Amino acid sequence: MKSIFTTIMIFLTLHLMGQQSELVIIPQPSSINVNDGYYSLSEYSTIATQSDVDLSFEVANLNKQIKWVIGTNLKLVKNETEAENQIVLKCTQGNGDSEGYSLSIGDKQIIISAIDRTGLFYGIQTLSQIIDNADDGHKTVRIPCVKIDDKPRFKYRALMLDPARHFLPVDDVKKYIDVMAMYKFNHLHLHLSDDQGWRVEIKKYPKLTEIGSFRPQTEGDGIPHSGFYKQEELKELVAYAKDRKITIIPEIDVPGHNLAAVAAYPELTCFEGEYKVMTVPGVSKDLLCGGNEQVFEFLDDVFGELSEIFPSDKFHIGGDEAPLDHWKECPKCKMKMKELAISKPQELMSYFFERVNEIFAKYNKKPLIWYELDVPGYPQNSTMYSWRLGLSDEVIRKSRELGYELICSPGEHAYFDYPQWKGEETCNWMPILNLEKVYAFDPGYGLEEAKQAHIIGVEATLWGEYVKNIDRAFYMTWPRAFALVEAGWSEMENRSWESFQKRLYPQLERFKKMGVNFRFPSELKIPFKQ
Ligand code: ACM
Ligand code: ZN
Repeated sequence: MKSIFTTIMIFLTLHLMGQQSELVIIPQPSSINVNDGYYSLSEYSTIATQSDVDLSFEVANLNKQIKWVIGTNLKLVKNETEAENQIVLKCTQGNGDSEGYSLSIGDKQIIISAIDRTGLFYGIQTLSQIIDNADDGHKTVRIPCVKIDDKPRFKYRALMLDPARHFLPVDDVKKYIDVMAMYKFNHLHLHLSDDQGWRVEIKKYPKLTEIGSFRPQTEGDGIPHSGFYKQEELKELVAYAKDRKITIIPEIDVPGHNLAAVAAYPELTCFEGEYKVMTVPGVSKDLLCGGNEQVFEFLDDVFGELSEIFPSDKFHIGGDEAPLDHWKECPKCKMKMKELAISKPQELMSYFFERVNEIFAKYNKKPLIWYELDVPGYPQNSTMYSWRLGLSDEVIRKSRELGYELICSPGEHAYFDYPQWKGEETCNWMPILNLEKVYAFDPGYGLEEAKQAHIIGVEATLWGEYVKNIDRAFYMTWPRAFALVEAGWSEMENRSWESFQKRLYPQLERFKKMGVNFRFPSELKIPFKQ
């Protein structure tokens, strides 16, 4: 027994030492060449910039991360890029990928160069991971000499939060953005409306938030739940995210998932009645009416106000899980179908999205939509999402044939509301989505180049029915988001599950140091003290 124990301890120690001497970066860069020698980072190092644009945010971001390690900010010296013991940030215009960068660590200087502030920011994130991993508690940190050239495989790498089901205050969303940015995510999708709550101030329709943002209890807990974002708060959030190279995508889900809006303005649905914001998970049949002009006027007003807040050229309009029972019976919907000479309510859905797209043309927006295979067509300029379990192959094929761009957020790999391990189940229908399964995700599904050319990226969805606060959101997101962002950033030939597990451990140590909540993947047996 004793000898087995000793062998295990020696193995773990060697394993740990091996990890510390490797360059550990997530997501894995395109090319890494380790050279001999070290750069000695200390309080005497300086930062220099050479740039056509203002880099004060990038310098501050680098300094913030360096301070975590050596306890002090470095001095900024402008236009003195030849001195020794410097970190040089070069942002020089040119052709190429605005997210790409090169990072060269020599024994006298570190140089990060990029053609855009975004690439430069990503170079800083990579350097920060290297510095953090080299930290051995001394005031001078020895960083291995290396040359890294890096750029993303996909241009869209996103996480989704669902403050509609459980409201998340702006300051909490900012914390979430901070961590996303450190790992090169570039979009945050906010699901702002659903049956269980409407979360964005719309000045022309005050009852959306007066009535629609409140529910008296959730699944019988007796605890009132409310909250919404003021427009000014959202503008500030958009600017905060932009500094960190993240675009916020707002989602107003139509025509389904609208009971909160209908509770505020019952005239928007098919039948008269008194409606209440939903207090349990699930999907309401009370859709926005597909045959009522007032609905399109409402959406024009809502998207008009949102366009003043969100500069993104793409807005999400949901389109998922819309039970058509009421559209089949509603006189206005039936009249509209007759007028359009169509017989199926699914065809009325296609018409509905075309009308929304006409509104979008006024505001220079394009739609993002959850793909539902029974809807016969979507606006030609839509970007679709694959999401339903088991339907990815068909959605990839259909979206390619019909000419839509596609974002992959399949249930098999990217639904972060699913439990991470057996024993964590919040409801009985959700499958387990462990870290290894997320890592196994190839958004191109091994297809030949031409067959995956329409795929523009990845997104993990964190549906909020059981995510009641930001701590839980962090716990459900990390470490799975490390695996997801690598699927979005790194080419398949640079990825391996073995290497990822080794590179994961230092990130978890980093999170511990930063006070960021995460789930420790105990099934992996990596050395880590909780
Ligand atoms: C979805 O999960 N309803 C898109
Ligand atoms: Zn109707």
